[in-house]
Amino acid sequence: MFAVEKVSGTKAEIYKELVRQTRGLLHGERDLVANAANVAALIWQFVPDLNWAGFYFLKGDELVLGPFQGKPACVRIAVGKGVCGTAAARRETVLVEDVHAFPGHIACDSASNSELVVPLVKDGEVRGVLDLDSSLFSRFDAEDRRAFEALVVAFVEGTDF
Ligand code: SME
Repeated sequence: MFAVEKVSGTKAEIYKELVRQTRGLLHGERDLVANAANVAALIWQFVPDLNWAGFYFLKGDELVLGPFQGKPACVRIAVGKGVCGTAAARRETVLVEDVHAFPGHIACDSASNSELVVPLVKDGEVRGVLDLDSSLFSRFDAEDRRAFEALVVAFVEGTDF
């Protein structure tokens, strides 16, 4: 059984620990749904001020909802649409300080005001995205972006899909 150890410290220290615990959580298990579910739960426990945290996986030309924490969400997002579809199409992280100013933003939860979406890239191809939403404006900055990109590398390396 994996015990989540919460740590205090600077944001950098907490994120370093989050990535370390992500690697620990995935150790010995490569199943996609199991790992995505546990990583969503770990993020939810570790990271303050989120109202949604989870995965979408690419199926054909759509992103389809995967394991998450938060309110029920939109199931299918076309590549190129919304913040998630934009991150998948560009194959790069999209950080949105105010989702209401992002053309085409898909409002799954009207409480969301900022968003960070990191693509899951495996063998040079986008396989999905990690999506984080917050009710705070400008909740995510460059440090959050770097930390979640590192977490996604750990997830992709430790998971078969
Ligand atoms: N806001 C996202 C849709 C997914 S939900 O936030 C969970 C978007 O614009 O792609």
